Amino acid sequence: MKRIGILTRDCAGVNAAIRAFVRSASACKVEVYGIFRGYQGLIEGDLKLLNHRSVSGIINLGGTILKAARSKQFRTLAGQRQAVRTLHDNKIEGLAVVGGNGSLAGAHVLATKYSIPVIGIPTTIDNDVNGVEMSIGADTAVNVALDALDKIRDTATSLERIFVVEVMGRDCGYIALRVALAGGCEEVLLPEKSFNVEKICEEIVEGNIQGKVSWIIVVAEGKVKAVDIAKKINTLTDLETREVVLGHIQRGGRPTAFDRIIAARYAHHAFEALTSGKLDRCVTLKEGKLTTIPLAKAIRPKDIEINDYYKLVKILT
Ligand code: F6P
Repeated sequence: MKRIGILTRDCAGVNAAIRAFVRSASACKVEVYGIFRGYQGLIEGDLKLLNHRSVSGIINLGGTILKAARSKQFRTLAGQRQAVRTLHDNKIEGLAVVGGNGSLAGAHVLATKYSIPVIGIPTTIDNDVNGVEMSIGADTAVNVALDALDKIRDTATSLERIFVVEVMGRDCGYIALRVALAGGCEEVLLPEKSFNVEKICEEIVEGNIQGKVSWIIVVAEGKVKAVDIAKKINTLTDLETREVVLGHIQRGGRPTAFDRIIAARYAHHAFEALTSGKLDRCVTLKEGKLTTIPLAKAIRPKDIEINDYYKLVKILT
């Protein structure tokens, strides 16, 4: 392979992955074209040759220098054909896709329907890529959310309030569960687990009688809204309850060392896999060693470990 394209979604660690991919390729005299705004940029032919120098000074930056977009057009046959045409017109022989389920599903379509050699690099704060223990960006998101939660705790303790903190994760409770455990929270409401707000309120009132005055409840987006839970708790307990929605701050920021390191390792391995003919696959770690799994497996729904973590949150309350 002489020329490869790379497109991305945004989250912390993606720039570190672009840098590692470009530099791994450049060491082997392979050209890398950065494709802007994901599949939309591929359809529109919005691409630029990247070299060793053009990825300098980005390892510590959040977001993606290649920008990101959701492309409705890529869902259509005409859009897909135009994307393939861009690759052929620019003599791009392979494509690295840095992203979560949606982006990886797109890569799988290009591989299976259009015989484009693709490799996936798992990247999502939701950490919900099947068969992948850690996606790039998830560690930073947990740390950003935890930092915010620690600050909220200062007010919760000082003003003796209840806080309901909503974290991201789409339909996956990964961030919520990690933050609840690391932040010493009293309760966590997850999309994967049923819960009973009335019962939680009984526990709060009981705790209050015994002198417990502040609570932090983490809510994973996807099933309920922090604002509704806070209102209900306030009504049922008559205790001051506030909601905080952390939102997109969790997707940005300086990547942690962990994310930069897996980004470098995944991207380098992705380059080697793609150029040695391992196609329609996604890089991952298995027992600490780099490997690849079929994209068809990576895009299936992932079951995350809930019970052990949840039990621990409750035991340690
Ligand atoms: O998949 C990553 C994620 O940040 C989810 O946690 C969240 O639900 C979603 O993307 C938000 O998407 P958007 O930025 O397009 O609103």
